[in-house]
Amino acid sequence: MNKNATSQKDKKNTKKVVILISGRGSNMLSLIKAAEHKDFPAKIVGVISSNPDATGLEIAKTHGIKTAINDLKTFSNKAKADLELMKVLQSWQAQIICLAGFMRILGDDFTKQWHKKTINIHPSLLPKYKGLNTHQRALDAGDKTHGCTVHFVISELDAGAIIVQSEVDILPDDDAETLARRVLMAEHILYPKVLAKLAAE
Ligand code: GRF
Repeated sequence: MNKNATSQKDKKNTKKVVILISGRGSNMLSLIKAAEHKDFPAKIVGVISSNPDATGLEIAKTHGIKTAINDLKTFSNKAKADLELMKVLQSWQAQIICLAGFMRILGDDFTKQWHKKTINIHPSLLPKYKGLNTHQRALDAGDKTHGCTVHFVISELDAGAIIVQSEVDILPDDDAETLARRVLMAEHILYPKVLAKLAAE
């Protein structure tokens, strides 16, 4: 930690943020690192994964952040999983939720309760390419630019109001992997900026 860094636990009077993940957690890490800065107006109070084996869970733990699992397979239906998720968020006193590679669509009850308080980062310039394989689809379409979007979450996949986007040029010899790498770098810059702005409001 550098001199401008602070432990998340020591931050007072900042918005409490919970990050939802399902996998490697690189966007989660970019948010955690940003929030470790003493002037960042939010603190990450917890990480919840829909996948018990997500590598992001271990990363969160090494940063001293509490974790929980919300695995759809352990519930009889999605509404019950959402309800349990809401309970954990409430017990952690979450004020903002950041989806970072969370591979489950949240239901209406959840998204209405957390309306304008839940954001997601998606690897395309929405409304283009909702869902998966966004990089290959942008290449197949012959697009010249691609990028990422941060948007509010509603119960329809990748369809909530767009907050901000970051464009990435598609280079002549790009393949899905090289393009994904550059878009991910843009995501890591964009997402903490949006969280800071939302938390400061
Ligand atoms: C990112 O590309 C994000 O845009 C999308 O899922 C991916 C998650 O990657 N929603 P990571 O787990 O943050 O590394």
